[in-house]
Amino acid sequence: MLLRIHQVLTTDELAQVRELVLGADWADGRLTAGSQSGAVKNNQQVPEDLPAAQQARHLVSVALARHPMFVTGALPRSVYPPLFNRYSGAANHFGDHIDNAVRTHAATARHVRTDISCTLFLSDPASYDGGELVVQDTYGEQRIKFDAGDLVMYPGTSVHRVEPVTRGERLACFFWVESMVRHDAQRRLLYDMDMAITALRRKELQTAAADTASGPGESPEVVRLTGCYHNLLRMWATV
Ligand code: NI
Repeated sequence: MLLRIHQVLTTDELAQVRELVLGADWADGRLTAGSQSGAVKNNQQVPEDLPAAQQARHLVSVALARHPMFVTGALPRSVYPPLFNRYSGAANHFGDHIDNAVRTHAATARHVRTDISCTLFLSDPASYDGGELVVQDTYGEQRIKFDAGDLVMYPGTSVHRVEPVTRGERLACFFWVESMVRHDAQRRLLYDMDMAITALRRKELQTAAADTASGPGESPEVVRLTGCYHNLLRMWATV
């Protein structure tokens, strides 16, 4: 499932994160690559132990935790601390690769299985040319270039690349999620069900406002469907 999450960062947070990251000392992006991806990776990253990276990471982590769509779509069990990259000038692309299956956070020695890959866009798409994230999924290639502050999540199993940036610079935050629900197909079912139940409940609440004899949006059907959601989650979740 490829999912767009709008406005993960507010305008203020986006400005703060950009300022922190732009003022940092950048390093070669190959630092965190595996051997196959290192051969096709040509970008820059902020070393994760820098204070600016820590502050920016904190801002993003707080924003993610409060965003209901992120929680609904990812069902996060563990989030790899967000990293920051830049594509510009000669260091401007990242060829086809699949992300490493397990990332080990150096500072904590914590392992995160990369069920979901995430990119949070930090540059106005009009400010650079190229730089599309191209993800190969079941329905073919998806070319992704979202507004600054928006996030895309896609299965960690996907082959993907970042096209060369030919003008300006593309700043982004990227990280991985180990989900409580390991398999993409199961997460997708839960997500669709959650969205449908939410819409149904909203519809019932509107009807209830017009007809005071009705219940407050908690019809027996909504209760049963909500129960089905939780029972599927209980069957599939690892916590
Ligand atoms: Ni990647």
